[in-house]
Amino acid sequence: MTERQLHINYLEYSSAVKMPFEDRELLESAISAAEGAYAKYSSFRVGAAVRMSNGVVVIGSNQENAAYPSGLCAERTALFYASARYPGESVEAIAVVALDDKGVLTELTYPCGACRQVMAEYEMRAGREMRIIVGSAGVVQVFTGVRSLMPFIFDNLA
Ligand code: THU
Repeated sequence: MTERQLHINYLEYSSAVKMPFEDRELLESAISAAEGAYAKYSSFRVGAAVRMSNGVVVIGSNQENAAYPSGLCAERTALFYASARYPGESVEAIAVVALDDKGVLTELTYPCGACRQVMAEYEMRAGREMRIIVGSAGVVQVFTGVRSLMPFIFDNLA
């Protein structure tokens, strides 16, 4: 038996104002995207913004449904549309944020496991890692590559 260890590097900004302009801009797009959320059942509004390799920013928000599993997270709404609209482009970065009635949450909102799996597939397809920007009203964290968030993914068939 061998005990192994994993080490994860990520950046943490105490405020979005300290981020590079492009990342801050993407986070701002995610915040406005959350306004489009249809979150009738959870009242948890999430916004995502994807910057593609051609510079285009695609947004998404969570879309819920009375038949709960039929809804979709903000990240996958954005990623699936981005891939459908620009199949030849890769994802440079995705920003994610959630809102409540007072605005952007003070807690970080990390992508769920299913969204991480989808990010992993697009990374493999493009042969490049994406940066994942996780926002809050205060701290913002930036991860390079989805394996920083989910090191062991299902990739046997990919
Ligand atoms: N949600 C997202 O949009 N992204 C996540 O990463 C986590 C959860 C949505 C799904 C559902 O509409 C609501 O938040 C509550 O789970």
